[in-house]
Amino acid sequence: MGEPLTLWHQARLATLRPGTPWGLVEQGALLVEGDRLRWVGPEAELPAALRPRIERRIALGGALVTPGLIDCHTHLVYGGHRAQEFELRLKGASYDEIARAGGGIRATVSATRVATDGQLFNLAAERAAVLMSEGVTTLEIKSGYGLSAEHEARCLRVARRLGRELPLTVRCTSLAAHALPHEFTGRPDDYIEAACAWLPTLQAEGLVDAVDAFCDSIAFTPGQTRRMFEAARALGLPVKLHAEQLSNQHGAALAAQFGALSCDHLEHLDGDGVRAMAAAGSVAVLLPGAFYFLRETQLPPVAALREAGVPIAIATDHNPGSAPGLSLLLMLNMACTFFRLTPEEALRGATVHAAQALGLGATHGQLEAGRQADFVVWDLAAPNELAYWFGRNPCLRVVRAGVQTVGPET
Ligand code: NIG
Ligand code: FE
Repeated sequence: MGEPLTLWHQARLATLRPGTPWGLVEQGALLVEGDRLRWVGPEAELPAALRPRIERRIALGGALVTPGLIDCHTHLVYGGHRAQEFELRLKGASYDEIARAGGGIRATVSATRVATDGQLFNLAAERAAVLMSEGVTTLEIKSGYGLSAEHEARCLRVARRLGRELPLTVRCTSLAAHALPHEFTGRPDDYIEAACAWLPTLQAEGLVDAVDAFCDSIAFTPGQTRRMFEAARALGLPVKLHAEQLSNQHGAALAAQFGALSCDHLEHLDGDGVRAMAAAGSVAVLLPGAFYFLRETQLPPVAALREAGVPIAIATDHNPGSAPGLSLLLMLNMACTFFRLTPEEALRGATVHAAQALGLGATHGQLEAGRQADFVVWDLAAPNELAYWFGRNPCLRVVRAGVQTVGPET
């Protein structure tokens, strides 16, 4: 017989399935069985065999429904903030200069190391709650503000705990190669060796889903990045890269050699990098919040990425230095205004392609039978409105793994 089913109906579904604009289904319905979507389509076509098993019906009055949003690049776990550096930048100091003078990421490392596990958890949980209130059901969290065996593990444990205790799917990424901690000043190769050596233990504790690095003039070289990726590959872990954010280090082409899930930022990506990413099937994760907050002027090569068929994702990059924002919807708007994505590309970027960037392409990011039942009901009529409004939260309900987590009682 199977489990009882819940029918969510009278909806306009933007399924994001391929083939038609937005994968739109008018007068649609979703049948949920446990944590999965059992059936998705026009209500009139609901299979007769399933009807007797429907135990609950929730009418949505014609509201728009999309897949749960996926924020595929965040640095959510950290202590302190860097509002004072924001002021310095407004007075003319650059992000690079502040980092080279010992501020930047290293300032947040100091604040993170002195915070307790409980403090780190509570701060990150509050941030996650803001994202969730706008429809986020899946979140990637990177380490990278611990930068020692002990503190990297602590930050990843906090990230895992968020996934256990909040109604969210959390993917944990090790970003030990984020900046050089002061203990290793002048010895970046030694630091990378140490960071590679932490990986097996972190993996054995189940704390790592992917390995990331920051390859740039103020961070690590392509050679050091390669070393980190080799360590990841030896453990069967997928890689990602903060690539070509501030300068072109040809990091994306390097990451592509390791079959990277994604390369992120990419303002300085060149044609060879685009082609390498296309050949490897890597997702281009664009981060308009960091572009905005650092007042960048170099645009990522969106037209070339499109032409080469590289999937484009959009994320908040939430972090205290370059992107302290907590609105994925605002990122959709900025992706359109700054990067000239279409509203549909922007929404695919926070659903289908974001899922792919996390290795969840088969189970998340679209409204389709068999996938996890993660969806959002919006106080909107048309899906292009998602990237249009800003500073307003039109989220009415969030359902994650079949359970409503935001919204009025059903
Ligand atoms: O994605 N680029 C490197 N890492 C972060 C910024 C980290 C920070 O400034 O604290 C980013 O922009
Ligand atoms: Fe980042």
